[in-house]
Amino acid sequence: MKHQKLELRQWALSDSKELMRLCNVIDRRFLSDRLPNPYTEKDAKEWLKMVSKNEASTGIYRAILCEGALVGSISVERKGNEAEIGYMLLNEYANKGIATEAVKQICPIAFKILSLERITANVFQPNIASIRVLQKNGFRHESTMQNAVIKDGIKYDLLVYGLTINNI
Ligand SMILES: CC(C)(COP(=O)(O)OP(=O)(O)OC[C@H]1O[C@@H](n2cnc3c(N)ncnc32)[C@H](O)[C@@H]1OP(=O)(O)O)[C@@H](O)C(=O)NCCC(=O)NCCS
Repeated sequence: MKHQKLELRQWALSDSKELMRLCNVIDRRFLSDRLPNPYTEKDAKEWLKMVSKNEASTGIYRAILCEGALVGSISVERKGNEAEIGYMLLNEYANKGIATEAVKQICPIAFKILSLERITANVFQPNIASIRVLQKNGFRHESTMQNAVIKDGIKYDLLVYGLTINNI
């Protein structure tokens, strides 16, 4: 990242209001419907409790801070034998390289702490910014699941990207 200081920090239970604000303004066009909408403070508290229980055992969960402000969220979560990366950032901070840097920082931590062999990313086909973030971090396009998602009545292909421990 060129000009601003980026930091990943662990979530605290006291982040519920900020997390709620983030999740209610985020661009959801290419996010799965698992994220409640609207996102209530109860949703935030439940998620933060799950995070404090699972941190470093089944997942690595971080708030993205830019010059001290909470601007996004990034995680790598184990799902059975798979581990999936997910991230989101406030619109006004987009295109500054922040997500690229956040992915760069979290992957080595996740590989090490969760003892992973690979990290998977599933991206809606039109989410060019996210694809660039993955490419810039060495993720490779492995397959395309055609018509895998229907969101707001629109059908999307889902692109599967992977980063193996040998490629970091
Ligand atoms: C996707 C998202 C994480 C990107 O974060 P970001 O900090 O803006 O990403 P970066 O600035 O690190 O990199 C974005 C890259 O995409 C490029 N880009 C952005 N929009 C683009 C577009 N419409 N067409 C082509 N390239 C585009 C940028 O130029 C940059 O690439 P470059 O460095 O080669 O120039 C952010 O927009 C976001 O949170 N979106 C909403 C939630 C989401 O979709 N999450 C991902 C789910 S898989």
